[in-house]
Amino acid sequence: MGATERNPNLASLKLVSGKAFSKDAVYEPAEDTFLLADVILAESESWEASRIPRVCVEIGSGSGYVVCSVAAMLRNEKNAGCHCVATDINPIACEATRETVVNHGLDGTVDVVNCDALAPFLVRLAGGVDLVAFNPPYVVTPDEEVDRGGIAAAWAGGYKGRVVIDRVLDTLEGLVAPCGRVYMIAIHENEPENIMERMRGKGFVADMIATRVADEEVLHVLRFTKREGEGEEEEGT
Ligand SMILES: C[S@@+](CC[C@H](N)C(=O)[O-])C[C@H]1O[C@@H](n2cnc3c(N)ncnc32)[C@H](O)[C@@H]1O
Repeated sequence: MGATERNPNLASLKLVSGKAFSKDAVYEPAEDTFLLADVILAESESWEASRIPRVCVEIGSGSGYVVCSVAAMLRNEKNAGCHCVATDINPIACEATRETVVNHGLDGTVDVVNCDALAPFLVRLAGGVDLVAFNPPYVVTPDEEVDRGGIAAAWAGGYKGRVVIDRVLDTLEGLVAPCGRVYMIAIHENEPENIMERMRGKGFVADMIATRVADEEVLHVLRFTKREGEGEEEEGT
């Protein structure tokens, strides 16, 4: 898929910040980016009115393409109460996301925070996140590369490409609302079956809902849906 215009319900590539296209600073929208946005859009078409996400987050927003697509999907009047938070550990990616947000007229709907995963929100958003989008650094690399910073953070995933993935997944049980959904990209080397098994043990229903063959890898989209009642305090306890 090239830099052509795509579905009008998604973010526009023409409005993505130029920083994302100046190499070596920010992850440029690629097959994994488009797959994640496409799958969330397809799913959004069957969301029941009572299950429309109100609080959405993207972890590792890079160019901002995915979070702006999610915000664009939810932009109509009926969903006026929806709010998105995008985080990235790379400050230049945060600048790019902010620019992409402004270019789409979504300032006020999407907040951008330069931080590690959702660290500042673990308490404030506990049990309150309805949708998580996560295209992680999933490439298998030496563990030392994971914390190198800069553009390396876009791909360096350490052992089995799972270092950042596992760290983030461990926080989701406490963050995601009942029936909330997580959509994440994984490749074969990440052992997606093992990731899904792990999430089932944390109160989620886990499914592989899409697979796309890209140039160098086979990309999967995993969906985790928080079971109703999971993580909620029982009455009288
Ligand atoms: C594969 S890129 C995806 C970028 C964008 N979401 C997309 O789909 O095009 C992964 C992104 O995660 C960011 N990232 C890596 N580790 C992170 C962490 N611990 N917390 C927040 N963001 C992180 C990287 O800087 C990079 O922008």
